[in-house]
Amino acid sequence: MKQLVVYSSQGGNTKKLAEELFKQLPEENKDIAPVAEAPDPSGYDVVCVGFWLKGGEPDPAAQAYLRKCKSGKVFLFATHGAAPGSTAAARGMNAARELVDGATIIGTFSCQGEVPEKVIQTAANKDPQPPWLKDAASAKGHPDGTDFMNLSEALAKAGLKPKPEPPKGSVVTGDHAM
Ligand SMILES: Cc1cc2nc3c(=O)[nH]c(=O)nc-3n(C[C@H](O)[C@H](O)[C@H](O)COP(=O)(O)O)c2cc1C
Repeated sequence: MKQLVVYSSQGGNTKKLAEELFKQLPEENKDIAPVAEAPDPSGYDVVCVGFWLKGGEPDPAAQAYLRKCKSGKVFLFATHGAAPGSTAAARGMNAARELVDGATIIGTFSCQGEVPEKVIQTAANKDPQPPWLKDAASAKGHPDGTDFMNLSEALAKAGLKPKPEPPKGSVVTGDHAM
């Protein structure tokens, strides 16, 4: 099973998430590359593609790579200024899904990524202001340790790593149940 992590990152947030994802993959036969240097996805069984949201969509470099994913399995991950679970975040992920034609999407994960102050100011001067602007302040410090734990769960759900063991003593079933 050959796995590849590809990421597009302007400010470093998605790169940070990609490096953590790469670290968490138990597979030994794995590669990681920024999108500009990424190998063709067809040589891999699983490709994890990371992007950041720009204007509500995956950034253009990631879009081009997503279009190349025509076989095998794909795991999508992203960072954005929008709050987790927001409509803006969900729309961005859906836009990425639609770009993948042929490959099977086995899972997705996204979290906030810190937005530089200058970017926040530029967005604030726009009319209308982008929908993610109101959430941008809460993106400070992300991705963080909690995001990495949530990423771990998403990877397990996608079958890319073993499911975590439940804490000992938390559930008693079968013959031992009282
Ligand atoms: C030009 C620009 C446009 C952006 N547009 C969006 C957007 O549409 N939705 C959103 O949630 N965040 C938006 N953001 C915030 C980034 O997606 C977020 O900070 C992300 O973590 C950046 O990733 P990176 O550090 O890997 O480049 C935008 C940021 C920039 C610089």
